[in-house]
Amino acid sequence: MASLADKIGSFFSGNDSSADEGLRDLFISELKRVYYSEKRSLHALGDQADASTTNEVRSAFLQHQEESRNQVERLEEIFKIIGIKTEDHISHAIDGLISDAHQVVSETEQGSLTRDAALIIAAQKIEHYEIAIYGSLLTLANVLDFTQSAELLAQTLEEEKATDHKLTTLAESFVNTRSREEEEKHPGSHHASRHPIHGTDADVTLGGPLGV
Ligand SMILES: [Fe+2]
Repeated sequence: MASLADKIGSFFSGNDSSADEGLRDLFISELKRVYYSEKRSLHALGDQADASTTNEVRSAFLQHQEESRNQVERLEEIFKIIGIKTEDHISHAIDGLISDAHQVVSETEQGSLTRDAALIIAAQKIEHYEIAIYGSLLTLANVLDFTQSAELLAQTLEEEKATDHKLTTLAESFVNTRSREEEEKHPGSHHASRHPIHGTDADVTLGGPLGV
């Protein structure tokens, strides 16, 4: 009789056919959930671009909206490759994140830097969710030997990470702008806490430094 360690080993190496079936089902249900999420965030990105204050933030949202169109197409390609009907599965997680993103627009002043900072925070929450789900799908695709699907998922995962990084850079430029404005208004009173402070996760920059 196989030991527990052997069973776990077979599970993760993809040698256990009953586990394979369960993982395939899990892959499909996560795929449908991310398909739903991408389509919802595609629309939300347009709203975020309309609501933003600076051209930099607006163009970051519009560029990611273009990428998201390709990401939706990649997911449709994966449905075809594994031979299942293209359909979506509701994701309460993305619904909640998008509703938060809409809420920050009503809570911040139009044309303010705070509006852009709040939009970046909301967008990064969505990006982190998407990075988590694409990372999990990629792991499952590798275990299941879905090579073509894995390649497509890896491309999207890289784009999501690059967007997250870009948003972090934009957030840091806000910190610098605010910092300069303060220095001009009150020379010599420059406060150290306005400088970006990276924690263990360098992608999360906004909360402390901007004080929003
Ligand atoms: Fe995406």
